Amino acid sequence: MEIEECIRGRRSVRHYSDEPVSKDHIEAVLEAGVWAPTGMNRQPWKFIVVEDKDVIKLVSDEAKKLVSEVMPNMAEMMDSEDDVICYRAPVLILICAESDERWSQVNLLDSVLAAQNMFLKAHELGLGTCYMGFVALLKQKPGILGTIGVPDGLELMVPLILGHPKGEQPPGERNKPDVTAWIK
Ligand SMILES: Cc1cc2nc3c(=O)[nH]c(=O)nc-3n(C[C@H](O)[C@H](O)[C@H](O)COP(=O)(O)O)c2cc1C
Repeated sequence: MEIEECIRGRRSVRHYSDEPVSKDHIEAVLEAGVWAPTGMNRQPWKFIVVEDKDVIKLVSDEAKKLVSEVMPNMAEMMDSEDDVICYRAPVLILICAESDERWSQVNLLDSVLAAQNMFLKAHELGLGTCYMGFVALLKQKPGILGTIGVPDGLELMVPLILGHPKGEQPPGERNKPDVTAWIK
């Protein structure tokens, strides 16, 4: 797949089939992540791959509760039997880094860059992905993170889901670049 097609064709996927993602594909997506640039080439990432459906459901249920608490306007949407957080995706990947206040901002940037590589690689493989901003709120609940496999000493940076998309999605739309200045 050409880079232009890959960049423009990637969408956030919110409907997944039950088909599991092969280990080879998960590994290829992780491998794409580690080719991202990092501040001072620290490559701080630690990846946690979750395929256990019960654990992913727990993450969604806990995130629903937290979203309702911190964003009351979302409470009605969160009050649903459906998995409105992880969308029943078969794989949840938590990009983490060692906790270190001095580096936490850089670690987050490094993790976001890794995530975008992973989104693009997944799209090339015919897989869908979505950034899980609501799941990132669980950083406020270290006990829950421990339950889902994030050990003490690691900080959750970017959660994302991965799976085989169910159905087609229309192409995305974007505004043209808003160039405020172009100084020559
Ligand atoms: C920081 C960040 C957090 C996001 N959190 C969520 C989320 O919690 N749930 C969700 O469904 N989509 C989430 N998204 C996906 C955005 O809604 C999506 O990227 C945007 O609507 C553009 O659509 P596209 O990715 O299909 O181009 C998040 C994206 C980013 C960059």
